[in-house]
Amino acid sequence: MEKHNFPVLKNDRFLKAARGEEVDKIPVWIMRQAGRYLPEFREFRTKHDFFSICQTPEFACEVTLQPIRRFDLDASIIFSDILVIPQAMGMTVEMRSAVGPVLPQPIASPSDMARLKKPDVEKDLGYVGEAITLTRHKLEGKVPLIGFTGAPWTLMGYMIQGGGSSTMAQARSWFYKYPQESHTLLQLITDIIIDYLVMQAKAGAQALQVFESHADYLNDELFETFSLPYLKQISEKVKLKLDALNIPRVPMIAFPKGATLNSLERLAKSQAYDVIGIDWTIEPSDARTRLTNVTVQGNMDPCAMYANEEQVYERARKIASQFGKTRYIANLGHGILPDTPIPSVEAFIRGIHSV
Ligand code: CP3
Repeated sequence: MEKHNFPVLKNDRFLKAARGEEVDKIPVWIMRQAGRYLPEFREFRTKHDFFSICQTPEFACEVTLQPIRRFDLDASIIFSDILVIPQAMGMTVEMRSAVGPVLPQPIASPSDMARLKKPDVEKDLGYVGEAITLTRHKLEGKVPLIGFTGAPWTLMGYMIQGGGSSTMAQARSWFYKYPQESHTLLQLITDIIIDYLVMQAKAGAQALQVFESHADYLNDELFETFSLPYLKQISEKVKLKLDALNIPRVPMIAFPKGATLNSLERLAKSQAYDVIGIDWTIEPSDARTRLTNVTVQGNMDPCAMYANEEQVYERARKIASQFGKTRYIANLGHGILPDTPIPSVEAFIRGIHSV
């Protein structure tokens, strides 16, 4: 095991809440907290393209720290993207402004899977590990650092569609046309994700979040067949591998955005994850009654940040009071939007911490 001698952690609210322990104040962080709503991020982006920031540890570290310098956040998340995995598998991924990610040569049919390679995670994605180690040092123990990955179905969706889609129809059709090949592809991605998350924990990530951002498109049957088994496998194998390497286990978070309450409940019952993220369509009271023995993370509507400051503060307070101080991590219900006003971010954090 590598020894890093990281600075002592001064704010452990987030980790305590993830482990189910009582906290003095509710921990809060924001998905995409390092992003375009920050003028310093936009300024940095005029000088560097998206993937060079991801691939250059000093740049990724700098951008990760930007929101931590500005706001009273309780966790940081390493700057990267879920699409670095398809890239490492040999696919071209472009980040186009006003469009989002584009994969110009998608996997159009199962025979195209032959083009995919199984990366050597330490070598091909080692830059993410280096960014994590550097950031742990530069954070000076101020807050913990979260590592992350896309989940298998979410990545499969991008790889087949060649980018974002409002229906994921081509990717979802695979489940009916090519169920066997779908499982082959999902397993291939799962194997990489497991090594990738272990590498991140080894490098110093103190929690690991799995983004199943395309759970919106799955009914209960599809979730149960094509998402849940892989989510479970990821957490089980990551824990076993960490144990074998003598690396302490870290809390694991699953965020199946748009999943039905039934699906969320099944995920919670599996006990595979310490924390389950929910989007803004889930009522806090339903989350509490249906998701037991897990910490819940979420779920203010990112669009609620466009109300005035006082309203943002009051809404954050309300959500925080509804969930309370046990087994809760405050966040938005999805990534913060690029033109969110900075005072709203401050009001959101103040509102959460006021409870
Ligand atoms: O949360 C953080 O601050 C860490 C950084 C982070 C980014 N992407 C940076 C980013 C994280 C955790 C992600 C994850 C990610 N990437 C997800 C899962 C979360 C979710 O939103 O569901 C997904 C689906 C992606 C794929 C992706 N990357 C999309 C769809 C886009 C375009 C989105 C848009 O708003 O244009 C990206 C680009 C991206 N990833 C940006 C950032 C800051 C903006 C691009 C830019 O700076 O030009």
